[in-house]
Amino acid sequence: MATNKTLTMIKPDAVKAGSIGGILAMINKAGFRIVSMKMTHLTTEKAQEFYSVHKERPFFGELVEFMTSGPIVAAILEKDNAVADFRTLIGATNPADAAPGTIRALYAKSIGENAVHGSDSDENAAIEGAFHFGGTEMF
Ligand code: RTP
Ligand code: MG
Repeated sequence: MATNKTLTMIKPDAVKAGSIGGILAMINKAGFRIVSMKMTHLTTEKAQEFYSVHKERPFFGELVEFMTSGPIVAAILEKDNAVADFRTLIGATNPADAAPGTIRALYAKSIGENAVHGSDSDENAAIEGAFHFGGTEMF
């Protein structure tokens, strides 16, 4: 499998809970290289744009409210098979269904407030990476 990239966000619930360090340690231990990283606070417009694929879903309003409720940490991660391996590391969307030892099993509270985001395809990883980072912010 070729080396590729994925985009993660440590979501406001996990930042508020003081879990940035614990989650980054799991990411490093799993063999991901951090290519870009920053703490930022999404505006309503930016959160709506990031999750626009879900704009017709009943939870969209709640999702945008949650994602703008506090700062997040966005990062581009690099590894062989990065997108699929990162989805495995974070676990299922609903922490009740997340495999033991995954980031969401350990850190997420609910299906809505689920600690981390991970890109779902190489194409979306590229779009989401460019959404958060540009110019000299990629290494
Ligand atoms: P993400 O995009 O954040 O990595 O999560 P995902 O692929 O596992 O799940 P997705 O279906 O893309 O949903 C995006 C985010 O919307 C919130 N959500 N809430 N209340 C609900 O039923 C519900 N379903 C989804 C979660 O924050 C989910 O991560
Ligand atoms: Mg998703």
